[in-house]
Amino acid sequence: MTQTNTSISQLNGHESKAEAPKIPVLSLEEGYAYFEGSVVPMSEAKVSVATHALHYGTACFEGIRGYWNDTHQQLYLLKLREHYERMANSWNVLRMHPKETVDDLCRITVELVRKHGYRQDVYVRPLTYKAARTIKLTLSSLEDAVAIYTFAMGNYVDIEAGLKVCTSSWRRANSNAMPVRAKVTGAYINSSLAVDDANAAGFDEAILLTHDGTVSEGSSCNLFILRNGKLATPALSEDILEGVTRNTLIDLIHTEFGMTVEERRIDRTELYASEEIFLCGTGVQVSPVSSVDHRQVGSGKPGPITMKLQELYLAACRGENEKYRDWVTPVY
Ligand SMILES: Cc1ncc(COP(=O)(O)O)c(C=O)c1O
Repeated sequence: MTQTNTSISQLNGHESKAEAPKIPVLSLEEGYAYFEGSVVPMSEAKVSVATHALHYGTACFEGIRGYWNDTHQQLYLLKLREHYERMANSWNVLRMHPKETVDDLCRITVELVRKHGYRQDVYVRPLTYKAARTIKLTLSSLEDAVAIYTFAMGNYVDIEAGLKVCTSSWRRANSNAMPVRAKVTGAYINSSLAVDDANAAGFDEAILLTHDGTVSEGSSCNLFILRNGKLATPALSEDILEGVTRNTLIDLIHTEFGMTVEERRIDRTELYASEEIFLCGTGVQVSPVSSVDHRQVGSGKPGPITMKLQELYLAACRGENEKYRDWVTPVY
């Protein structure tokens, strides 16, 4: 099939990586989705207004990127299995039992993306939701369904200029109040409140603190700092989502720089004293931070460690480094 030209594909190609961020708005007229057990035109992938997940946020999701390699004439899906394995953990938290397995979803995703015939960077959004039409507050014995859709998408934020971030007055949801380890849709009200306030105040992103006041993560990304020549990231106990990119970078840093990343508590004021800070995640990839709460980070320019890491990471994502070929799944 030929490439679909959705409004998003026109907005975001990976060629235009220095451009300002664009908010994807999806066309429902083009493309396909996996819905209720089969691949259907996007316009047919619709749920009832009575769907449980719509009312109570009883769904979990993933975000997966695909990187187009023009030389290889290949589209590579990044860490496909790792994302579905994390989704399976979210299923357990939400007592979900969809009929698809992790293996099924890896295969279905490749087939769905292939059907679009993309020759550009893409984003895949799998969702598992409580599909029952009921108002009963429960997790058990409700029908669970999987939907997957995909669209062309390049950079989500400016990954070169350096992001201006602030610490949010909204605290990161605590693991005992909300299962932050699961990527649960309802929990994203926490992220939305923080990033919306940050944007309204002129910042690119919000950093949320834990209830103890230590650094947790961004609205949809994890965070690393470089202090006194050492790299550190908030520990898993800091109410973070266990980011696939975070894990990937910890390994990459070890292999390429011979450095062990400290996973520890990070104080808010350590952000002001860091030589470099970067955000990481499927969406933001590896994005340098130039200021926190109006305080310059290091020289105020993207730092050398961050940019070297970004270069290594993106090359591996695009299937350009044999050593990391197991990160990616070819679509064609
Ligand atoms: C709250 C939050 N933290 C961190 C991340 C980064 O996770 P990953 O690297 O798996 O995309 C995301 C993105 O999925 C997120 O939504």
